[in-house]
Amino acid sequence: MSLVILISGRGSNMQAILDAGLPVAAVISNRPDAAGLGIAAARGIKTAVVAHKGYATREEFDAALAAEIARHAPTVVALAGFMRILTPGFVGQHAGRLVNIHPSLLPAFTGLDTHERALAAGVKVHGCTVHLVTAELDHGPIIAQAAVPVLPGDTADALAARVLRQEHLLYPRAVRWLLEEKVVIESGIVRIKDANAHQYSFSDRP
Ligand code: GRF
Repeated sequence: MSLVILISGRGSNMQAILDAGLPVAAVISNRPDAAGLGIAAARGIKTAVVAHKGYATREEFDAALAAEIARHAPTVVALAGFMRILTPGFVGQHAGRLVNIHPSLLPAFTGLDTHERALAAGVKVHGCTVHLVTAELDHGPIIAQAAVPVLPGDTADALAARVLRQEHLLYPRAVRWLLEEKVVIESGIVRIKDANAHQYSFSDRP
């Protein structure tokens, strides 16, 4: 049982997964300058770059990415700030074991700039979601969610930082459930085969 993590940038969720002691076989980035690559390498984790700029089409890039992932034969593939839309072919190939963390309480605020949009909408509760990846962006079965308050005077950065603290707690827990094969999907709804599993958390810490 092992996991490959896909990143594009700073890699703080990747780091949280490493800190949790989960069995990470490799970290792969689509950007050679992703800061997370250095963090992983410093911990003795194998790293690889599959640069999307080197491929003419999404299909070709995804085929190269799938080949690099397959070399490590992981049980689970975790997207952690991986900023590429994956083709239905790639998603189908990894169905049920491809997982993502998104910085909103889905189905609200799919896509980008979630914290800015949450503030603009005036929601009072915001958060993050770990979900299985399907062909439709940010729409797969929800494994777990963490909620935080939106406070008067919040900036997008302040809100992002509050959500990120919860991401770092939530994502390793959810990835562990997948690795331990505790994730069951029934009619698109995720249940965890563990009486002690909480698929939600609430933090009221500012
Ligand atoms: C996180 O907010 C995650 O939810 C989103 O992209 C960001 C990645 O941050 N998908 P990091 O690279 O894990 O620090």
